[in-house]
Amino acid sequence: MKFFIDTANLDQIKEAQDLGVLDGVTTNPSLMAKEGIAGDENVIAHYLKICEIVDGDVSAEVISTDFDGMVREGEKLAALHPQITVKVPMTKDGIKAIKYFSNKGIKTNCTLVFSPGQALLAAKAGATYVSPFIGRLDDVSFDGMELIDQIVHIYQTYGFATQVLAASVRHPVHIIKCAEAGADVVTCPLSAITALLNHPLTDIGLKKFLEDHAKAAAKQTA
Ligand code: G3P
Repeated sequence: MKFFIDTANLDQIKEAQDLGVLDGVTTNPSLMAKEGIAGDENVIAHYLKICEIVDGDVSAEVISTDFDGMVREGEKLAALHPQITVKVPMTKDGIKAIKYFSNKGIKTNCTLVFSPGQALLAAKAGATYVSPFIGRLDDVSFDGMELIDQIVHIYQTYGFATQVLAASVRHPVHIIKCAEAGADVVTCPLSAITALLNHPLTDIGLKKFLEDHAKAAAKQTA
């Protein structure tokens, strides 16, 4: 399972990259706004900075909502760098744009997916990735993980090449459940990735190892 980081924050992207487990980055207009990135030139410069930090795919979302606008914007984004994946919302025009990009060999990430039917359409249109938002489903009392199970099952049954990119991941249990379900990718905040490191028995065990080592060393020098 690939690990993507879901942020436009360069320090966090660097930290995840330094950990050695990062496979890519996803951004969205809200995440870009959070970093204060606005205006065509700044947005482009920011995506290029992200591509310099990581080796894998970097999702850059279109703002247009009509087919022509999505195509214009997406082609410009895709031309920036080979790692750029054009992120397109799950709408009628979005599906048409994904089909267009797929025919042109441009990578896409179909975002804002909340149902198996939407995921089926994204795969039929040839999306590289589909992004089901599990945390936002949990927020409204639907089981986000059930959606991941359904999509993985449908894609495996028909051999769709579209990768299931679990998004809106909020905590480490989401990551583990996604791995169990067979998601191809999880995109999550840095805090969810680093939370996987933690276990109290690891801390207790390491403390004991170091104490025993220190005792043995003291005995030898006594
Ligand atoms: O990748 C989509 C993600 O950014 C949404 O996450 O936490 O805003 O629901 P969240």
